[in-house]
Amino acid sequence: MQISMSVNGNEVTRDIEPRVLLVHFIREELGLTGTHWGCDTSNCGTCVVLMDGQPVKSCTVLAAMADGHEIRTVEGLASNGALDPVQQGFMEEHGLQCGFCTPGMMLTARALLDKNPHPDDGEIRQAISGQICRCTGYATIVRSVQWAANHPVSSAATGDAADPSEAEEVTA
Ligand code: FES
Ligand code: FES
Repeated sequence: MQISMSVNGNEVTRDIEPRVLLVHFIREELGLTGTHWGCDTSNCGTCVVLMDGQPVKSCTVLAAMADGHEIRTVEGLASNGALDPVQQGFMEEHGLQCGFCTPGMMLTARALLDKNPHPDDGEIRQAISGQICRCTGYATIVRSVQWAANHPVSSAATGDAADPSEAEEVTA
């Protein structure tokens, strides 16, 4: 069957088998491997992408169900060479270690902030409650999202780059 959808603002059309999951379509057909594939049982949330602005676990969505919809993956977060504030927040507040959960966490955070620009910690924890991080712990992830809420325009976008002397190596 033929499907078409917008992925990170680009129209894509492909012939696929009807049984193909969205996560495999994104990773293998489109080569966007920033969307991770973990449990394949709807538990870990590492496969989260945005469909029409809503976080969905792409291992539970058939690619055919995305026909005609707008998909946003982690590769679509930065724009014009500037990090999304959520991406910068994860860097500033050390919201990742291995980085496996990070694309899904950041997309869920982006969807939350688009709906609720000033969430409290409980609202952030509720938003990410369907996603598992096995190594960072959630405190710094919550702080990362709060950083983004407090910096709605990335400092990279304004040219107000962080003090390099404060930078730490990110090894994800
Ligand atoms: S791979 Fe989709 S929820 Fe784990
Ligand atoms: S940063 Fe390793 S699982 Fe979250």
